[in-house]
Amino acid sequence: MAARTLLSLAARRLEGKVAVITGGACGIGESTARLFSKHGAKVIIADINDDLGKSVCKNLGPETASFVHCDVSSEPDVENAVATAVDKHGKLDIMVNNAAIGDPTKLNILDNDKADFEKVISVNLTGVFLGTKHAARAMIPSQRGSIINVGSVSSSVGGVASHAYASSKHAIVGLSRNAAAELGRYGIRVNCLSPYFIRTPLTEEMFKLDENPEFRVYSNLDGVTLQEEDVAEAALFLGSDESKYISGHNLAVDGGFTTINPAFGVFARA
Ligand SMILES: NC(=O)c1ccc[n+]([C@@H]2O[C@H](COP(=O)([O-])OP(=O)(O)OC[C@H]3O[C@@H](n4cnc5c(N)ncnc54)[C@H](O)[C@@H]3O)[C@@H](O)[C@H]2O)c1
Repeated sequence: MAARTLLSLAARRLEGKVAVITGGACGIGESTARLFSKHGAKVIIADINDDLGKSVCKNLGPETASFVHCDVSSEPDVENAVATAVDKHGKLDIMVNNAAIGDPTKLNILDNDKADFEKVISVNLTGVFLGTKHAARAMIPSQRGSIINVGSVSSSVGGVASHAYASSKHAIVGLSRNAAAELGRYGIRVNCLSPYFIRTPLTEEMFKLDENPEFRVYSNLDGVTLQEEDVAEAALFLGSDESKYISGHNLAVDGGFTTINPAFGVFARA
């Protein structure tokens, strides 16, 4: 019995850590919040969807999870989300900059509006910049921390999503590398986590899935379908001490999609 208790304690890989997760009210962010709390972390969900965010926190329990309204494109909101973590728990160990949006799919660049482009950039890129900045402010005094910026396959290949989305997701890889270069001296790690396709409200809207029941997703890996929980497991790794020497990395969770070209070659599938 004692051995089993010791084992389950050892298996809690984020025991004593404090995490802020932007966009934690649903999808990948929610899954990450659930897994982090299962592993002993105190979690702050920072989202614009108050009802969903509060309901996830209620489900996780008030000891473990709290909600803060936060639009990541607003600097005071992001500053407040980080301050809430520090006020409540005394520190910040992990920042997951996960919130993102898509824009209306318009296949001709001539139809793409500047306002739509800038809106995506303000959430997907400026939001990640603000999250990185204010997390760094909170982490520098303790000389440690892990910042996880959620990218996409659109962080490293073109043609998967809109110009705005691809631009924002490529840009956060650069931002993560730059921040890793600066913040390494404080023991702070900064990485990207780049998943492949998962059906969530974001992708339902982006690819108009309800209007397109025939929508099929190519996968290099047969017999397995990517789930939110798989991305959460990768976030758990990047947030935990098991990845203590990994920084400036873009961890793809894509079954090889971004590194394999199936169109030509000895293993071609197309
Ligand atoms: N689902 C996929 O296929 C996929 C693939 C690659 C990368 N991603 C990335 O994963 C992350 C999560 O996406 P998801 O699919 O879980 O999306 P989702 O739509 O399920 O969740 C996004 C969350 O972000 C919140 N949000 C939106 N705008 C916000 C803002 N301005 N401030 C704070 N919160 C805001 C939403 O309320 C929601 O809770 C995103 O960065 C997305 O780009 C998703």
